[in-house]
Parts: sequence; C-alpha cells; structure tokens
Amino acid sequence: AINNGNTLRVASPASNITSELADIDWDNLGFGFMPTDYMYVMKCSQGENFSKGELQRFGNIELSPSAGILNYGQGLFEGLKAYRKHDGNILLFRPEENAMRLKMGAERMCMPSPSVEQFVEAVKATVLANERWIPPPGKGSLYIRPLLMGSGAVLGLAPAPEYTFLIYVSPVGNYFKEGLAPINLVVETEMHRATPGGTGGVKTVGNYAAVLKAQSAAKAKGYSDVLYLDSVQKRYLEEVSSCNVFIVKGNLIVTPAIKGTILPGITRKSIIDVALSQGFEVEERLVSVDELLDADEVFCTGTAVVVSPVGSITHQGKRVTYGNNGVGLVSQQLYSALTRLQMGLTEDKMGWIVEL
Ligand code: COI
Repeated sequence: AINNGNTLRVASPASNITSELADIDWDNLGFGFMPTDYMYVMKCSQGENFSKGELQRFGNIELSPSAGILNYGQGLFEGLKAYRKHDGNILLFRPEENAMRLKMGAERMCMPSPSVEQFVEAVKATVLANERWIPPPGKGSLYIRPLLMGSGAVLGLAPAPEYTFLIYVSPVGNYFKEGLAPINLVVETEMHRATPGGTGGVKTVGNYAAVLKAQSAAKAKGYSDVLYLDSVQKRYLEEVSSCNVFIVKGNLIVTPAIKGTILPGITRKSIIDVALSQGFEVEERLVSVDELLDADEVFCTGTAVVVSPVGSITHQGKRVTYGNNGVGLVSQQLYSALTRLQMGLTEDKMGWIVEL
C-alpha cells in the first residue's frame, strides 16, 4: 500500500491481516467523486497501437483547447468496480467485458483502443496503486473509470491525431440518494436518448450529456431518474439515463433487446445469466410501455446502480407502484445473488471474478 501521510492502520478481525486504509468516512460513501493517489495514462497517435502506459500521481491533465474530445466529443468511458474481500484479497468483476465493449465503441468513434490484455493489466495496476481507497468489505467498492479520448488537436471535423487512455478510481457506495430503497422513475415522452444508427449502443460521453436536461427536470419534480422510450414509435422501453431496465411478471423476467440504441450493460448480461441459473424465464425483446402496468416488479441494472429496485413509474401523469412499497422479492434475490458473487461471498461458478 502507498502511504502519502493520511493513512490509518486497521486490523481486519476476519483475517488478522493488517492493511492500510485511507482516512475517510467509510460509512457514508455515496457516488461522489473523491480523488485518490494514482491514475493510469497511455497515449498513442492515430493509425498506431497503444504500446506502453504508466501510473502517474492523480491530478489534472493538460489538453489543447482544440482537442477532439473537447470540440467534437470523440470520447468513450467505461465503468467497473473492485471489491475488498474479507480475506483481504481484491476482486474485479468481468474486466475483459469492459475491455471488449471499449474496443467496440472505439471502432464506432474512429479511435484506436487498448487490447483486452492491456486494458485488464492497466485496471489491475491502477487498483493496486490505489489499494488503500478500496472500501472495507460491506462498505462499498472502488469504482474504476477508464476513459478513451481524442486528445490531439483538430479544427476541421476529423478524428484526432492523438489518443489518450486514462484510468482513475474513486471509492463509492450507493448510486441513488435513496440508498437501497426503491427509486421513482418518470417516462420521458419528448426527449430521446438515442436513435437507430446513432451511438446509443456505445458508451460515448455525449450519450450522457444528452440526458442531463430531462434528468434535471425529473429530479426537480422529485423523481429519481428518467426512463426513455424508443425514438421511432415512442412506445418501447429503452433504458434509464445511467442503467438498463427489467420488468418481472411472475417467473418471467423481461428486458429490452440490444438493438443499437441501448447500452449493452455488463450487469444486464450478468443478471440475465444469474436469473436463468435460478430458474427464471428471461426474454430479451421489445417491451411496450403498457407492460409496465401489469408488472409485479421493475428494477434497473448497471455497474454504478448495481440492481436498483423501482418503487414507481409515472407515465403521462399516471403513477404505477411496484413491490408493495418495499423491495420486490425477485429484485432482492437477484441483487443478493449478484453482489454476493462480486464480493466473493459465494462460489464463482460462472468464472466472472478476477482476483488480484
Ligand atoms: C456505470 O454504471 O458504471 C456507468 O458508467 C453509468 C454512469 C452514468 C455512472
């Protein structure tokens, strides 16, 4: 562990292993940014491959005002988490999936990308360099944010001449201010997140700027977030600003199919497999907004939100509630199965965990 002056020595009762933790309030982590010790930086020119990166002290980066990312939004991000296990080991969840998704997105955004191996090694190095910021077991996780951006200067619209792959991390707890309590969504009928043929299926930075207006308006009215509909028929569920959506009807779990406008979530994909392994039937298909009316439960999935139960959805002024004012049983069961796996509390039969 790295000691830059403000560390606290704690003994882990479960293992008798003494480790150093950053001196912060581990009991009240939300999803706010907290600077840590190190970040990873790797650069390459257009037409070349990334070759060698390095850990640097965390800090501001220098960019030309003409950088492709600043002017034309040529950039992607990823999100994954590291958990501290009771025995002191550190666990990553399916990091190769993030690496592959970044590669796909880079292709769409005309950017070079690190290889899967480079990505995973860079994530591991960044997590280990910031080990003291990984929350104690049960207190949260270390959120890992890889960025890929056109960092070279351009003026005319074109791919940037230079690219930067960067990873920073921040300790996090629950994403929504509701904590683990159900969230309240509102269906957005005017604004759209993505269109067919657009970039909705990749994690480009602009997709997230595009939802801020509807999200802010919804929050001002007391909702937790916005549920988007497809932009063509304005009838089928797409996703929530920062996560995918699922509905539960008895033993059936349904989620919108991936068709280019929806982000292919790694938690989404994992929850489908966990649900199938627990005997649920799962359908990936068009899900009409009318199906919200007779759903038993609704929940959202994402790296940041994990599995977030939905307590109500308001559509055209009509509010439907779920889970009898509590967390629905299926949402609870899937949340528990996934997080126990991610935290190393159950055997990883899926081969999803990478132990550092
Ligand atoms: C994640 O869940 O990791 C994301 O990237 C969503 C982001 C808006 C927090």
